[in-house]
Amino acid sequence: MCGIVGYTGYRKVIEVLFNGLTNLEYRGYDSAGIAVRDENEIKIYKSLGKLINLKNEVERCKSQIKNPTSGIGHIRWATHGSPSLINAHPHTCSCGKLAVVHNGIIENYKALREELIQQGCVFRSQTDTETIAHLVALEYSKVKDLEEAVRNSVKRLQGAYAICVMHKDVPDVIVGARKHAPMLIGVGEGENFIASDTPAVIEYTKKTIYLEDNEIALVTKNNVKITDINGNIVNKKVEVLPWEPVALSKLGYKHFMLKEIHEQPDVIRNVLNGKLYDIDEAIKLNEVKIDKEKLKDLNKIEIIACGTSLNAALVGKYLIEDFAGISVEVEASSEYIYRKTTTNSSTLVIGVSQSGETADTITAIKQAKEKKSHVLIITNRPDSNMARLADSLIPLNAGIEVSVAATKSYSAQLISFYLLAIYLAEIKNSLNKEYLKNLKHELIQLPTKMEEILSNTSNIQECARKFSSYKNFIYIARGINLSSAYEGALKLKEISYINATGYPAGELKHGPIAMLDETMPVLSILIPGGICYEKILSNSEEAKARNAKLIALTSSEDENIKNLFDFVIKIPSISEILSPALTCVPLQLLAYYIAEFLGKDVDQPRNLAKSVTVE
Ligand code: F6R
Repeated sequence: MCGIVGYTGYRKVIEVLFNGLTNLEYRGYDSAGIAVRDENEIKIYKSLGKLINLKNEVERCKSQIKNPTSGIGHIRWATHGSPSLINAHPHTCSCGKLAVVHNGIIENYKALREELIQQGCVFRSQTDTETIAHLVALEYSKVKDLEEAVRNSVKRLQGAYAICVMHKDVPDVIVGARKHAPMLIGVGEGENFIASDTPAVIEYTKKTIYLEDNEIALVTKNNVKITDINGNIVNKKVEVLPWEPVALSKLGYKHFMLKEIHEQPDVIRNVLNGKLYDIDEAIKLNEVKIDKEKLKDLNKIEIIACGTSLNAALVGKYLIEDFAGISVEVEASSEYIYRKTTTNSSTLVIGVSQSGETADTITAIKQAKEKKSHVLIITNRPDSNMARLADSLIPLNAGIEVSVAATKSYSAQLISFYLLAIYLAEIKNSLNKEYLKNLKHELIQLPTKMEEILSNTSNIQECARKFSSYKNFIYIARGINLSSAYEGALKLKEISYINATGYPAGELKHGPIAMLDETMPVLSILIPGGICYEKILSNSEEAKARNAKLIALTSSEDENIKNLFDFVIKIPSISEILSPALTCVPLQLLAYYIAEFLGKDVDQPRNLAKSVTVE
């Protein structure tokens, strides 16, 4: 979704803004803009579409730009008002002396807009953000102090915001403020940065200060001052980012998605590191801050998540119920927040999110906290809003995920659920010792098996080539791999825009079979030794009888498979219970190669954003 970067210092301002915005590009956007302070003026440049258009616009106007000393930049994902030049940020007040960029949604903007129009403000856009520009400009005209003007203005805003404001009469000062939307300061020497997310600053500094809700930052090149909503100074900790700038490089891969798929074996080693190293030792999960005696009596867990994280949650449910016998409900955050739930103080609520910034999940977690539940967050961003709400926090340690389509964060989420489920089973003594040992042994072997798949992807590429012209797919599976079918289909939809649906194989004959013919391939996930292996084979036969082309994703050595299926994607032998952690890889690759074959924008699919910070 939207991204913000601000800079004041000795470097080339426009270059810093573009680098920052480029590193936020992965979040998805439809227009972009910058405001720079140059020769005692605020100059604004905007464009529709990708950043290259903005670069061209700035290049076109370069004779007007002399020596900018500070600036703010924005990429916009339209919420209020269509994607258009006029709606792109930065926005200004009536006289154009002030510029503001904004992430989030101002819920009371209509009432404020009416009020400001009455006071003579002239609105140009349809955005909620322009309200902030007029509001702050009016306040500034009264108090003549930009920080105070921002403070007074944000007190009137309802909703979510991370904003950066510059004013012509306050040279090289950027004022930032936030509520329910992330914002951080990148601390440098003789320069400072302000941004909505760390990738925007990581090329320049690893030192960051995270703003909390209702805090205001006044940033100059030599100073950062943070105050609360009442103007009291807040002493903030400077944190050091764990990432290197190289995390934002493709390292020779054509796309970030492909790089991130290939990173998965190491990601899994990272997740297991320190938690599982010996099959005779119990899983260590010190991150779970609930007394073990209490965990023994735990009888209800709710997992809340969206999208890919929701698919990982379904595997989590299966595992926790299977290993520890604890009843688990899984629900999309957007559904959870609008109904009367039975969550209470004895429910363990688990929030799963790659970004830790998904608005629906944050709202759901806050509701669970109000009901006094213990909240366990599984996220790739321990620096996120969601992580800050956690009573227990399991960081994924997958490294920055740049591609909009989640891959390595999904496998890291799966492995975290394996560890959590085994941890609970060990506390409850609910699994046979031999079974546990085998499970742990297989978990440790998992990265090597993934490497085996990744070392030769030509068969998957061939499958992608053969099937890329189909417009509809059904992915079928049963049991623990049902979520693999959902996730595989979601990946294909997201990046190739092909209609793909994950379906319980046994449900095929209850409706979807009506759609089957030679135009709709069916991909079946078949793990030999699995409880429903034979049943899925029969379901596949039923599809074949309707002329559907069949693809098998399997570890089976059975020669008959080759006769039944039109294409077979093989994976190394694995037990059914662990197989979702392996089947995800070829499904990601299949989606990737189909999208790549069709020439789609793999890393930044249309209409999607990396972190969905609005409900
Ligand atoms: C899928 C994808 C989205 C996200 C969803 C939740 O590839 O990226 O479906 O999984 O928006 O995001 P997080 O996990 O950040 O809460």
